[in-house]
Amino acid sequence: MPVPDFSASPSAERGTGVRLEGITKRFGKFTVFDDLRLEVSAGELFSLVGPSGSGKTTLLRIIAGLETHDSGHVYIGGKPVDHLGPAKRNVGMVFQDYALYPNKSVLENIASPLMVKGAKKQDAVREATEMAALLGIGETVDRKPGQISGGQQQRVALARALVKKPDVFLLDEPFSNLDAQLRFSSRKFLKDVQRRFGITTIYVTHDQSEALSISDRVAIMGKGEVHQVGTPREIYASPADEFTATFIGSPPLNVLTVTVAGGTSSPLFIPVDGLKDGECRVGIRPESIALGSGPNGAEVTALEFAGRETIVYLKTDGVELRAVVQDAGALQVGGRVKFAVQPGAVRVLGGGPR
Ligand SMILES: Nc1ncnc2c1ncn2[C@@H]1O[C@H](COP(=O)(O)OP(=O)(O)OP(=O)(O)O)[C@@H](O)[C@H]1O
Ligand SMILES: [Mg+2]
Repeated sequence: MPVPDFSASPSAERGTGVRLEGITKRFGKFTVFDDLRLEVSAGELFSLVGPSGSGKTTLLRIIAGLETHDSGHVYIGGKPVDHLGPAKRNVGMVFQDYALYPNKSVLENIASPLMVKGAKKQDAVREATEMAALLGIGETVDRKPGQISGGQQQRVALARALVKKPDVFLLDEPFSNLDAQLRFSSRKFLKDVQRRFGITTIYVTHDQSEALSISDRVAIMGKGEVHQVGTPREIYASPADEFTATFIGSPPLNVLTVTVAGGTSSPLFIPVDGLKDGECRVGIRPESIALGSGPNGAEVTALEFAGRETIVYLKTDGVELRAVVQDAGALQVGGRVKFAVQPGAVRVLGGGPR
């Protein structure tokens, strides 16, 4: 497991970056993280993405001070905050469950963190009104949460977290309750809000395409460890390991073992330029499999219509592959098709030669 290299990252000592150093967290005998390191730069929209149970929520709660860690340090704006409770860390959080007060109006909901801090009522009302207008829910302020839509509720939750002017904004799958269309517009909205406020934001999602589409940088989390940190483009183009390679991309990379010998390969014929003789694990992007002609033949086992493209499932010599085509044309389930792996499309995984 490669240790992420932070040497090139901007320093978190300036502004309100977040740095985690050597974080270990156990629940009883179960270790969630062991010596985890992560650095989020000031003003960045940073996503934590990983499968269920990989520790995303736990990490966010540790940053917020809602969960204690067993060892290591959390720095916000370059200062250690391990000894500070959640209220003293000046972070804003939005969870999947917005937890709005059902009996308070939208305005009272948004103003509530200011009131808790001891602000004068008229100041809290003014600031909450301004924030509601900024987030496009100005006309709903007199209603109760039960009288507004799911998308509006989510904006109330964002407004309530932002009105405190937090140094760091922590979001744990805030849009997962929304339908696909609203989710799509909400993430665009979030990105706009984040840009407007310039606020350091850590966004948790298990949806890799969502993370790639909105983030400045992404951390790929597996079971309690960070597999890779990078820009969406870096992670997509150069996955650091097999876990990342198979998690990222829709559909994800095809991963298989090939044996290279004497300028050719089996069980698939792939371009072997630069590959050493012997066995290696390789990744092949579905879009790099050209169907129609080539040295390989396969059975089409399934076709999945995905709007602009079709995912073609292939089986050849015991190897299952996914290809993506714009036009499935004459392809039929059960039929046979020839194919070639395009030159330059083969990525050696696990630090092998290439
Ligand atoms: N209070 C707790 N007590 C014991 N184990 C816990 C507790 N909270 C979390 N865990 C365990 O820690 C691991 C990480 O959980 P966490 O909720 O952080 O995952 P996650 O990445 O947020 O998952 P999801 O995508 O499902 O929300 C899981 O194995 C979980 O069962
Ligand atoms: Mg979670």
